[in-house]
Amino acid sequence: MGRIARGGSYLGKYDQVIEQFPAFHVADKVILLGGVMIWIMLLVAIWARFIVGRRRKGPSGTMRVKADVTEGFEKLADAIGDDSVAVICATGFQYSLDVLAPWKVDYYGTINLVDACRKVGVSRFIFVSSILVNGAAMGQLLNPAYIVLNAFGLVLMAKLQAEQYIRKSGINYTIVRPGGLKNDPPNGSIVMESEDTLFEGSISRDQVAEVAVEALLHQQSSYKVVEIVARTDAPKKSFEDLFSSIQER
Ligand SMILES: NC(=O)c1ccc[n+]([C@@H]2O[C@H](COP(=O)([O-])OP(=O)(O)OC[C@H]3O[C@@H](n4cnc5c(N)ncnc54)[C@H](OP(=O)(O)O)[C@@H]3O)[C@@H](O)[C@H]2O)c1
Repeated sequence: MGRIARGGSYLGKYDQVIEQFPAFHVADKVILLGGVMIWIMLLVAIWARFIVGRRRKGPSGTMRVKADVTEGFEKLADAIGDDSVAVICATGFQYSLDVLAPWKVDYYGTINLVDACRKVGVSRFIFVSSILVNGAAMGQLLNPAYIVLNAFGLVLMAKLQAEQYIRKSGINYTIVRPGGLKNDPPNGSIVMESEDTLFEGSISRDQVAEVAVEALLHQQSSYKVVEIVARTDAPKKSFEDLFSSIQER
C-alpha cells in the first residue's frame, strides 16, 4: 500500500478536489497501465505546526498528520512515514512580523521536506511554487507582482532557491508554478507553459490541486517545471497533452 503525503494545508482548501481522486481511481489507473503494481494510495496531509504523533482519519479514509516544515527533516520523515509514495508540497509562509518567515517556510521548509523524502525513500515530489519566481532573469524586475511579493521577505527568491535545491536533489520532481490563486470555481481552461514564460494571469485553487494530483498520474510530468494559469479563450486539453508539451531541461 502506498500513500501520498501533502505538505501545507493550502491543499486543504482542495479537499473536494482530492476527493475526486480516491484510492480506487488511482488503483484503476495503475491496473490499466500494467496490472502488476496495485497501489492503493491514501492521501495524507502534513497539517499544521507540530508533529503530535496523533493521526486522525478524515473523510473517505484520508489521514491527517500534524507537522511543521521548519522543525527539521527528521520529524517530517516520521510524519511522512516509510509507506508514502509521493509528497505534494504546497506550503506558504504566513504573513507576520518575522521577515524571515518566507525563508524559514518556503526555502528551509521545502529543503526539509526533500531531505525527509530521501530519508524515507519517497522518490516523487510535487512542489507548488509561483510564476515570476525567476522574474529578475525574465526581465520582470519592475513587474508590480514581482516587486510586491518580494517586498514580503523576498518570498519569490526563497521559492526559487527551493526549486534549485529540488532540481539538484535527484528526486523525481514536478514544479508547478501557478499564477495568482483564486478561491472561485474554475473559469476557463488550464494553460500550461514552460518555465519563465508566464508573467501574468490567475487560476482557481481547484485547478492547481488538479494539476498537482494529475502530475502524479502522468509520467510526462517528471523532471519538469510547468507554469499554469486559466484562460477562458484557451482550448481544453488533456493532462497528457499538457504535460507532454513541456520540454524537460
Ligand atoms: N496566493 C497566491 O496568489 C499564490 C500565487 C502563486 C503561488 N502561490 C503559492 O502557493 C502556496 C500557497 O499559497 P496560499 O496563498 O494558498 O497560502 P496559504 O493559504 O497561506 O496556504 C499555505 C499553507 O501553508 C501552511 N504552512 C505555513 N507554514 C507552515 C509550516 N511551518 N509548516 C507546515 N505548514 C505550513 C499553512 O498551514 P496552516 O493553515 O496549518 O498554518 C497554510 O495553510 C504558496 O507557496 C504560495 O507561494 C500563491
